[in-house]
Amino acid sequence: MVFIEDVLSADYTGKTVTLRGFANSVRKGKNNIFIMLRDPTGIIQCVSHSGEAPFEEADRITRESSLEVEGTVRQDQRAEGGYELSISRIKIFGIAEPFPLKSGHNKVFLFDNRHLWFRSIRVTSVMKVRSTVFESIHSFFRENGFYEIQSPSFVGSSVEGGATLFSVDYFGRKAFLTQSWQLYAEAMVNSLWKIYTVAPSFRAEKSRTWRHLTEFWHAEAEVAFAGNDDIMDIEEKLIKYIIKGVLEKNRRELQVLKRDTTVLENTLRTPFPRMRYEEVIDLANKNGLKLDYGADLGSDEERVITSKLDVPIFSVNYPKKLKPFYHKPDPNDPSHVLCNDLLAPEGYGEIIGAGQRIDDKDTLIDRIKEEGLNQKDYEWYIDLRRYGSIPHSGFGLGVDRLVMWICKLPHIAYAVPFPRTMRRLFP
Ligand code: 4AD
Ligand code: MG
Repeated sequence: MVFIEDVLSADYTGKTVTLRGFANSVRKGKNNIFIMLRDPTGIIQCVSHSGEAPFEEADRITRESSLEVEGTVRQDQRAEGGYELSISRIKIFGIAEPFPLKSGHNKVFLFDNRHLWFRSIRVTSVMKVRSTVFESIHSFFRENGFYEIQSPSFVGSSVEGGATLFSVDYFGRKAFLTQSWQLYAEAMVNSLWKIYTVAPSFRAEKSRTWRHLTEFWHAEAEVAFAGNDDIMDIEEKLIKYIIKGVLEKNRRELQVLKRDTTVLENTLRTPFPRMRYEEVIDLANKNGLKLDYGADLGSDEERVITSKLDVPIFSVNYPKKLKPFYHKPDPNDPSHVLCNDLLAPEGYGEIIGAGQRIDDKDTLIDRIKEEGLNQKDYEWYIDLRRYGSIPHSGFGLGVDRLVMWICKLPHIAYAVPFPRTMRRLFP
């Protein structure tokens, strides 16, 4: 089967081809009907002339109708892409009713019609980039000796704090949808040493921001005997690997999205600076914020901090109270933890949350109590420190956030096929 990109890129001039697709637009004149045919690879102008056999069929085609056309390829400078197909035969799969989407719709209307909007060239381009991102995540980990392993989505306790837990009725008991695989990863890392997963995570995010979903795709890794610096090395290599893959495979899509790739290219070349939390606060205040030491960094703060950057930065060693219970206190300053957030430039902010885990039983129990968590729920997790504990670190990459940054989209919902937010359950 021939695709439109083949016809537009190779020399098919004079040849007869059969193409399938949807009518991206239809222009009807007295003597000619022009159908812009769209398939996953591109758009080509197809023309039917009056007096020729398929003209009547062509006249039935409406925007977004699905069809197969056979025709001869002609070079035509006036046509988009430089080629045109003179139609000799049409087979109609489905005639479309008047298509509800036109240009200029607002965001809510478009997301209400995501099932139809999905066909647009811009959405298709984002999804192709997204596909490369997922492909690269898997190949990076597999090329680097990681085992892919899964954890349950139904869980009995929180990882990232109770505020964003989704509860479900689990045969009369209360269960939750997992926020992260991490606690299970820390059990599995003791046997497999280098592990990763790519799976949905769930957060009952009540704040409506441009970067929060209730269900997001999480690429997580856990590594035995790795410290906070080692895990940052792996994160940096992963991000560079993914961006290199997109720049190699998705030039055309990035063009469609009008993505200036300077920052992406710079990201490949430049080591990611590692800044301590207090330096990041200074940077924020230099950029006009008025943050006190100890302030948490959210969407708005990180937008300001990273808006002028042209490479991701690691923000490391946060005050203990800003981070979940499992982070290992810095031995040189136990009021801070050995953690790192990777902040994407151009205003995007956190795309990875990571750090070294507590490996000492008593410290862990203290932190569980301090956070007001029920120790009973975490006994199995504490066991991991009772029976041959090892130093280990891990991270979680928000894949949708990474796609949003790579494509430079204004909201995370644009990066996801069918986004789930506080307000959106359909389609
Ligand atoms: O920083 P977070 O909460 O870290 C963890 O969950 C760790 N347990 C991961 C680990 O060490 N295995 O989440 C990790 C990343 C964030 O940096 C962000 O990119 C993404 O997950 N993320 C979200 N993405 C979209 N919508 C949300 N509501 C998100 N919450 C977190
Ligand atoms: Mg985080």
